[in-house]
Amino acid sequence: MVRETSLTPQDFIYPLFIVPGKGVKNPIPSMPDCFQESIDRAIETAKEVFSLGIPAIILFGIPSYKDEKGTSAYDDNGVIQQALRAIKDAVPDLILITDVCLCEYTSHGHCGIVKNGNIDNDATLEILALEAISHAKAGADIVAPSDMMDGRVGKIRKALDEEGYCDVIILSYAAKYSSAFYGPFREAAQSAPAFGDRRSYQMDPANRREALREVSLDIEEGADIVMVKPALAYLDIISDIKMNFTVPVAAYNVSGEYSMIKAAAQMGWLNEEATFLEVLTSIKRAGADIILTYYAKKAAQLLQS
Ligand code: PBG
Repeated sequence: MVRETSLTPQDFIYPLFIVPGKGVKNPIPSMPDCFQESIDRAIETAKEVFSLGIPAIILFGIPSYKDEKGTSAYDDNGVIQQALRAIKDAVPDLILITDVCLCEYTSHGHCGIVKNGNIDNDATLEILALEAISHAKAGADIVAPSDMMDGRVGKIRKALDEEGYCDVIILSYAAKYSSAFYGPFREAAQSAPAFGDRRSYQMDPANRREALREVSLDIEEGADIVMVKPALAYLDIISDIKMNFTVPVAAYNVSGEYSMIKAAAQMGWLNEEATFLEVLTSIKRAGADIILTYYAKKAAQLLQS
C-alpha cells in the first residue's frame, strides 16, 4: 500500500536486431537470450512482445552492405525499412521506434561521416535527416537519433515536417555517454568503430551539468521524449532531468548492464530475476517514465504472473 514505485509492462521498450534473410535467429554470444533475427522471425517476436503488454519496440538494423557514408541507412528497401512495413502490417498497434544513427551502416563504424580522421558534424546531419524520413515513410511512429551530432534533432524535425511527417515523434538520445557498457551491443549490431573511439561526440561520464545542457538543446530543437544512456551508472542524471524538465524521460538499460547480470547469474553469483527487477525498479524510481531494456519480455512475464 505504501510502495512508491511500481513497474508495469507498459513502462518498457524492447530492442530488436534485424538481419537480412529468412528464418534467421542468431544468438548473440555476449547477450544470452538476445538474437539477431530476420524479418519473418522478428514478426513473431513483435507479436509476443505486444501480447505481453509492452507497447513499443526499437529496431536496430544490420544491413547487407556498408560504405563510408552509411548510404544504406536511407535505402527505402533497407533491412529496417522492410522490417517496419512487415511488422506494422502484422502488429498494427505496436509502436515502432527506429534507432537513427550511422554506426551500423558505415564501413568504419563511426556514427558520422569521417573527414581527415574527424567526424564531420554537419555533413552527417544531411544523412541522418534522409534516414529519419526513410524510416517515417516505411512506418516508424518514433525516430530515435542516437548519433550525438550537434543540431540533429532540429534538422530531423524540420526534414520530417517538410515531408509531411509532422506526427512522427522524436525520442532523442539526449544525454548519451561515451560508455564501456555498450561493448556487447557492438557485437550484436556489428558496429564497433574500426579506429579511435566515440569520445568526440558522446559525453564524458564525469559530466553531470552538461547533461542538462544537452537535454535543453534537444527540447528546444523539438525532442518530444529525452533519453539518458546508460541507465544504471547514471541514475543521478535521470533524476536531474526528471526534476528540471517536463517532457517524458526515457532511460536505456544498455547491453553491458544486461550482460553483467546474465554473467553473474550464470556463475550462480546473483539471483537473475531479483536482480533485474531491482535494477529496473531503481531506474524508474530515479525518474524514468520509459525504460528501454533487453529484460523487457522477461520482466513483463514476471509482472503479469
Ligand atoms: C548506436 C547505438 C549504440 C547503442 C544504441 N545505439 C552503440 C554506441 O553508441 O556505441 C548501445 C546500446 C547498448 O549498449 O545496449 N549509436
